Amino acid sequence: MPESLSSIRATLDAHDQGHLLAFLDELTGPGAERLLTQIAGIDFGELARLMARAGGREVAPVRSGELEPAPFYPRPTDDARGWSDEDRHYRSVGEEVIRAGRVAAFAVAGGQATRLGWSGPKGTFPATAVSGRPLLGIFAEQVLANQDRYRVTIPFYIMTSPLNDEATRAFFHDNNYFGLNRRNILMIPQRLLPSIDAETSKILLADKGTVAMHPDGHGGAVNALAASGALDDMAARGIDHISYFQVDNPLVNVIDPLFVGLHTAAPDSSSQMSSKVVPKTDPDERVGVLCRRGGRTVIIEYSDLPPELAAERDETGTLRFDAGSIAVHLISVSFLKKLAGGEGPFTLPVNRARKAVPHVDTRTGRRVVPQTPNAIKLEWFIFDALPLADAALVYQTSRLEEFAPIKNASGADSPATSHQLQSDRNGRWLETHGVAIPRDHEGHVAAKIEISPLTALSCDDLAGVQLPAAIEAGEEVVL
Ligand code: UD1
Repeated sequence: MPESLSSIRATLDAHDQGHLLAFLDELTGPGAERLLTQIAGIDFGELARLMARAGGREVAPVRSGELEPAPFYPRPTDDARGWSDEDRHYRSVGEEVIRAGRVAAFAVAGGQATRLGWSGPKGTFPATAVSGRPLLGIFAEQVLANQDRYRVTIPFYIMTSPLNDEATRAFFHDNNYFGLNRRNILMIPQRLLPSIDAETSKILLADKGTVAMHPDGHGGAVNALAASGALDDMAARGIDHISYFQVDNPLVNVIDPLFVGLHTAAPDSSSQMSSKVVPKTDPDERVGVLCRRGGRTVIIEYSDLPPELAAERDETGTLRFDAGSIAVHLISVSFLKKLAGGEGPFTLPVNRARKAVPHVDTRTGRRVVPQTPNAIKLEWFIFDALPLADAALVYQTSRLEEFAPIKNASGADSPATSHQLQSDRNGRWLETHGVAIPRDHEGHVAAKIEISPLTALSCDDLAGVQLPAAIEAGEEVVL
């Protein structure tokens, strides 16, 4: 046992958390020791400081008049033949940076996938429309294809959490690392923090012998990358920038030369942090929006953007706040080091997220499954680093090309909508190369089409691939 029971009790009492031992006498076998070990690992003093720092509000309220839309670089035409000299220049600069081995891939995959209802790590979810390739497999294959293209090693860092780290490692092992060298796939577990009752400030028990814990947000990546030694590992490998993306988007472009070129060489980029956006579908779409506030670039979450601002349109009918974040960023390793140092202006704020957390009522011993948010989860958001950059560049890409998230089991952003979006993109790629594609009355592709990153990373790559003349309605095709 790590600490004596009496000293644990004293610590808990000093922080008004004695209820965590309410069922200690009922725990049999190793259960009691497990609970005490878990409690001994919690820094109650730090938790109290973080709660105080997060303050009595959940987010900084948006005042009217203080937000402007963020300016962005528009995506060039789909057909590379229509690109300007400037577009070509930035793409070739980006290619040089990638070829020099200065860019690593970084997936945040530590979330709990509660909304999707998938019991394994979200990255293991079968995501493609026909063969059900798992999310992390798609990204690994993109890394592999880019390594071949640029003849360089691209390390793949993946943020896990203690709740899914082992399963994620086993998944890569079982899949033979998707052809990558296992030494270049690095799992970085983020920290867990206790979930706190929003009314009483008491830490919740998930069951009688377990404290309810949650991963500390995707912004926890800063701390995890530093504490695990990954930032030093990057420096030793000559990595200057990480290509950050979320585990939930099977269409993400893991290594994008044009974006890398803009991030590293555009005059209005500090090369510290850049963000990719797509035009929003409608005012209520649940994506963060890139804005300017007080001369800085910020992401305002969908829940914090006042509805009247979200609905504003310009004279052409386009939403004024149109730059929807797909949570893809390029971040320099030196900027990450500053953020990890946490000094002065580089401290990421800590947020209070209100969530519904199932728990055991310590007075009655009964399990409670709340339908509305009852708890505070302290979390860091990576996008809170954007306003800390000297100049954050924003690049708008095409939604059809790069965004098909899987977040919910059904309805919006579900496997069904993602499959359709993947087939729509792949159908367009094939049409560009003369393949006849069936479409339904809404213009969606009426077949299931999957294209492996090993076959093509972009539409242009299909030029050398043997393609069918036509695809029939309802057909399932894997290329
Ligand atoms: C997120 C963004 C939103 C963006 C949208 C694009 C937030 C708060 N919102 O919304 O601005 O427009 O994606 O799809 O981020 N994760 C961890 N560890 C954690 C928490 C999350 O690794 O502790 C990872 C998840 O595995 C996932 C990603 O972060 O890959 C996003 O998390 P989630 O909470 O699902 O954000 P969304 O509400 O989908």
